[in-house]
Amino acid sequence: MTDSSFPRQLAFVGGGQMASALAGGLVQAGWPAQAILIVEPAASQRSKLESLLGVLTAERADESLRRADVIVWAVKPQVLREAVESIQPFIGTPLHVSIAAGISSEDLAAWTGSRRIVRVMPNTGALVGAGVSGILALDGVTPDDRELVAQILLGTGDSFWVGSDERLDAVTAVSGSGPAYVFHFLEAFQRAAQAHGFDEKQARELVLQTTAGAIAQARSSDTPFGTLRLNVTSKRGTTEAAIATLDAQGTGKALEAAVHAAYVRAGQLAKEFGAARPC
Ligand SMILES: NC(=O)c1ccc[n+]([C@@H]2O[C@H](COP(=O)([O-])OP(=O)(O)OC[C@H]3O[C@@H](n4cnc5c(N)ncnc54)[C@H](OP(=O)(O)O)[C@@H]3O)[C@@H](O)[C@H]2O)c1
Repeated sequence: MTDSSFPRQLAFVGGGQMASALAGGLVQAGWPAQAILIVEPAASQRSKLESLLGVLTAERADESLRRADVIVWAVKPQVLREAVESIQPFIGTPLHVSIAAGISSEDLAAWTGSRRIVRVMPNTGALVGAGVSGILALDGVTPDDRELVAQILLGTGDSFWVGSDERLDAVTAVSGSGPAYVFHFLEAFQRAAQAHGFDEKQARELVLQTTAGAIAQARSSDTPFGTLRLNVTSKRGTTEAAIATLDAQGTGKALEAAVHAAYVRAGQLAKEFGAARPC
């Protein structure tokens, strides 16, 4: 990548783990670190970002924020409105990119007074370059802006565009919260292995390699997951006994209910922290 393909300045508001992952991916892809400013109140986090990535940091926003061509809002949803309001005097006319879960693009448009708004829902896979993000653009976003957002997300894994906040809530429920579902499964699988005589380390390795192998196999073709499962489930065999137990315990239905609960919660968050929140 050449410097000329980059905007002059990219600013993050909030320098937590997701901002670090995004900025780290950009620096690794060749984005000039000195063209990235991260506004982050915690001194320890600022020095970590400076030493690890070589980016510029600031305790609070000031006039220099006006130079930002893109502002990435990377604070918790609970504090996003307050962050926008406190920084408003220093905002020029940037592209706004929010990664805050559950805050609608229309709320961010109202708070910033701009319709050049993109909402991104990443997941923790982004921390290791293996994430998946849903992206939503409001009507003020140009084709160049879209290209820029794709570049910003390049180092974090896959991404795809959706057409509404509701679709982004669904992305939140599936892939945003999804890593926790997988970790929950891994925890139970490891406990089950330990219950059968493996020590913690052996159980962890067995479970991780089994999961990684199954995912690699699923990725190697378009075969439906159900067919892959049936292919390893012999009549009256061990796997059949295990799957019958999972079905009897309703694990598939429980996961469907869990994803739906996350979807409902994403909508509630928008109400709690969005426009409906009393000023
Ligand atoms: N992590 C994920 O997997 C994930 C996935 C999808 C979406 N997201 C979204 O990404 C956003 C950031 O998540 P995260 O996990 O990176 O959170 P985080 O680690 O808590 O980072 C947020 C950072 O912003 C700082 N901050 C708070 N108020 C600020 C302000 N007014 N101005 C500037 N910085 C401020 C916080 O500092 P203090 O700690 O000192 O308050 C903290 O360092 C959230 O909205 C979350 O919904 C995260």
